[in-house]
Amino acid sequence: MKRLHNKTAIITGGANGIGAAIATLFAQHGAKVLITDINEEMGTSLAQALRNAGGSAEFAHLDVSNYDNWQAIKETAISHFGGINTLVNNAGMYHPSNLASESLEGWNKMLAVNQSSVFFGMKSMQAELAKSESASIVNISSLYGWVGSPNAISYHATKAAVRHMTKAAALELAGSNVRVNTILPGQIQTQMLARITPEQALAIGEATPLGRIGEPNDIAYGALYLASDEAKFVTGIDLLIDGGWSAG
Ligand SMILES: NC(=O)c1ccc[n+]([C@@H]2O[C@H](COP(=O)([O-])OP(=O)(O)OC[C@H]3O[C@@H](n4cnc5c(N)ncnc54)[C@H](O)[C@@H]3O)[C@@H](O)[C@H]2O)c1
Repeated sequence: MKRLHNKTAIITGGANGIGAAIATLFAQHGAKVLITDINEEMGTSLAQALRNAGGSAEFAHLDVSNYDNWQAIKETAISHFGGINTLVNNAGMYHPSNLASESLEGWNKMLAVNQSSVFFGMKSMQAELAKSESASIVNISSLYGWVGSPNAISYHATKAAVRHMTKAAALELAGSNVRVNTILPGQIQTQMLARITPEQALAIGEATPLGRIGEPNDIAYGALYLASDEAKFVTGIDLLIDGGWSAG
């Protein structure tokens, strides 16, 4: 069953990891997908692979921290698909940081890529999304937007901000039939986790109530639900997909 047959979606950071899983699942479910990323090689190749598999997918360059890029991508999406009714703000970055170690440059970069990006995306696309009878924004936060830890202060700041920007936008846009929700992934096996050793990954898996590290598709299925009309009464929520970490 194609659950997104009436959807046209922009996915940021869609070339790799969780974003690529979302783009793939969305295309398999009938959405027309505009994959955006700063990694042109991987993004172009994924779009081609999805077309080869019978899906509808294009790639366009978008640095989410650049507001001018967002204006251009809106025009690109409209010219490819005639309009946009789904936006997935997934692109993100991580580096370890604490009060003692973080530089102002590191702090500003993290805010630009993880936080301003989500504001820019929602601000740029909201009028276009509101033209649809049923539109949806899915913002990817993190379990680290829910709990703290000692060595990720910049990342925590941005991911907590995403949750509350989501709630504010959900209330602002509810009257325009634009739903806005957050997904909070736990530890997911992607390039972002490449910094940890296989032994550390095993230990995280064993410490997770459901006994493993997450896969990109665990998050993609949450995005599929939130983007579909099955979630038409769902807005402003925090969808934790973390194998049970936050339950304890
Ligand atoms: N992997 C995890 O354990 C985990 C946990 C919680 C939340 N998240 C969040 O999930 C999202 C996806 O992460 P991932 O694990 O797939 O990471 P990833 O590193 O595998 O993929 C991130 C993608 O974003 C792109 N990107 C980076 N900076 C960009 C920019 N300025 N403009 C456009 N694209 C940019 C990269 O090129 C890459 O394709 C991020 O927001 C991340 O914070 C990941």
